[in-house]
Amino acid sequence: YKRVTVKSLVDMKKNGEKISMLTAYDYSMAKIVDAANVDVILVGDSASNVMAGHETTLPITLDQMIYHASSVVRAAKRALIVVDIPFGSYQSDSKEALRSAIRIMKESGGHAVKVEGGVEIKESIKRILNAGIPVMGHLGLTPQSIYKFGTYTVRAKEKHEAEKLKEDAKMLEKAGCFAIVLEKIPAKLAKEVAESVSIPIIGIGAGNGVDGQVLVVHDLLGMTHEFNPRFLRRYLNLYEDMSNAISQYVDDVKSCDFPNDEEQY
Ligand code: KIV
Ligand code: NA
Repeated sequence: YKRVTVKSLVDMKKNGEKISMLTAYDYSMAKIVDAANVDVILVGDSASNVMAGHETTLPITLDQMIYHASSVVRAAKRALIVVDIPFGSYQSDSKEALRSAIRIMKESGGHAVKVEGGVEIKESIKRILNAGIPVMGHLGLTPQSIYKFGTYTVRAKEKHEAEKLKEDAKMLEKAGCFAIVLEKIPAKLAKEVAESVSIPIIGIGAGNGVDGQVLVVHDLLGMTHEFNPRFLRRYLNLYEDMSNAISQYVDDVKSCDFPNDEEQY
């Protein structure tokens, strides 16, 4: 396997090849995602929702993110592995941010980190980059600051918010980030940003004028079913398929159908 690197992603943008990115939080799922040639695996703090059942991404800890990331690292041979730095592990000051990023790199074996925000966290981003750790930015809808906004609606529809987002993207590029996630913003704005920077823009709910796409793998597979944003394309309905399979198992146990003669010693 030839490992995808931060450099290959920038080259993909240059060559007009779209970048595919998906989340994974555990070994078994990451094996499948990696074998399907997904370019980037994001160990997202969406694990807080998807894996732990929290309402927001805020409660997940750095230790928990490292646990998820180390499981993914053991599975993935080809994909570049990016790990979210969780809420509360980089906002206090830039030294704390660097310590958190170093812990992720040393203890999980991930290849890069992702942080949410623009100019507010510029010093932290610079300090992490100075240590040789690749940083992916994340602008637009930033779930770690959900309580500041109060809703998960589309971001940067207002002119001043769109202007700030464009400036933040420029700043992240200038600081040395290798890519930026843009979440839930108008497609026209996302396209404009993608055309204004040389680093890849990976969209989620940001239209197809960007350089790549990311989704939460459980959403794509239809394992989650309460979450139905317009941007989500479901490729399977695993919630239903898994429920049916498990109900069948229960019935088979109750009716003494399982195990049969061949399924025992
Ligand atoms: O945590 C996550 O899954 C993310 C993606 C939605 C970009 O940050
Ligand atoms: Na995230």
